[in-house]
Amino acid sequence: MQPILLTRDRSLADEVARLSAAAGVRPDLYDDPLAALAAWPRAPLVLVGADLVDEVAAARPGRRDGVHVVGWAPADGVFRAALAIGAGTVGELPVCEAWLVDLLADSEEAPGRGRTVGVIGGSGGAGASTFACALGQVSAPRGPTLVVDTDPLGPGLDRLLGLESAAGVRWGDLASSSGRLGARSLREAVPRSASGVGVLSWASGAASEPDATVVREAVAAAQRGHDLVVLDLARHGPALVDELVARCDRLLVVLPATLGGVASTVRLLERVGPVSGAALAVRRGGVSWDDVERATGLPIAVEVPEQRGLLEAVDLGLGPVRHLRVPLARAARQVLEDAA
Ligand SMILES: Nc1ncnc2c1ncn2[C@@H]1O[C@H](COP(=O)(O)OP(=O)(O)O)[C@@H](O)[C@H]1O
Ligand SMILES: [Mg+2]
Repeated sequence: MQPILLTRDRSLADEVARLSAAAGVRPDLYDDPLAALAAWPRAPLVLVGADLVDEVAAARPGRRDGVHVVGWAPADGVFRAALAIGAGTVGELPVCEAWLVDLLADSEEAPGRGRTVGVIGGSGGAGASTFACALGQVSAPRGPTLVVDTDPLGPGLDRLLGLESAAGVRWGDLASSSGRLGARSLREAVPRSASGVGVLSWASGAASEPDATVVREAVAAAQRGHDLVVLDLARHGPALVDELVARCDRLLVVLPATLGGVASTVRLLERVGPVSGAALAVRRGGVSWDDVERATGLPIAVEVPEQRGLLEAVDLGLGPVRHLRVPLARAARQVLEDAA
């Protein structure tokens, strides 16, 4: 299903066609609002020319998201009619060109949002970042996958995945951009491994946190443009952790089954509060699994196995999952299948 454009303004139709070509989509053109009513609720994006907005309002189409009015120097009355049809924006060409290209490019993305798995260490050095990368590596061959580093002081997920010298967008670049972030632009701009896992991380030395709006925009764009988004959440992390956790379909708390590991995890959970979809990913230690579950009040979703040769694989730039048959890959797959 393509976006739709409703207009009788030839020059507007030509301009939108040109921008659509740049975005890689081909909107269906309607010059009669009534003829567009069937496509209206289902089209991934609806653009209404300023010339037809009154007629469209009179046709009383159903309310939906993703409706925008575009025109050359839209008159005041256009804004009123735009409100009446529930349009999100009135874009004035040619100034809104870049915005419109992003909007069109995004319209191609899956309408639902990608699945989001948060990973957080119950205690320091538990293996959370490693497991987050393993999840990304295992998921990548199945569909677009992005691992998001939320820890400016961590070791850098791009490094863990062998992408530290890969060109591409990092947090610092997003902080300086303004406006709506396109799902496809983000997906195509981040460093990505040969096996397809993308990473959004920090340039070394850039330890300042992006502000909350940038993080929200980036996560939302990541979710629109990927089948799976893995958020590596910093334990001591920014105030944003709570908010990021709320955006996860599943939260995995990684801990070693040791007394210290369990004690830290209990504290972390008290701070984070109850989260639906939370479960544990446990590394073997002296404490029994029953005791781990009882103390934390969370079920164990998976055992994270000790991965031999992990540092070597990372040093070689292969990421924690050197190939898809290693034990760590099997554990990651189990999580993804359980959560599917
Ligand atoms: N499954 C594993 N098997 C063996 N070593 C691991 C495993 N997971 C992590 N490690 C090692 O533990 C250390 C901390 O891992 P990391 O993923 O950075 O933890 P966290 O993000 O929880 O602080 C690293 O040196 C890493 O190589
Ligand atoms: Mg970490």
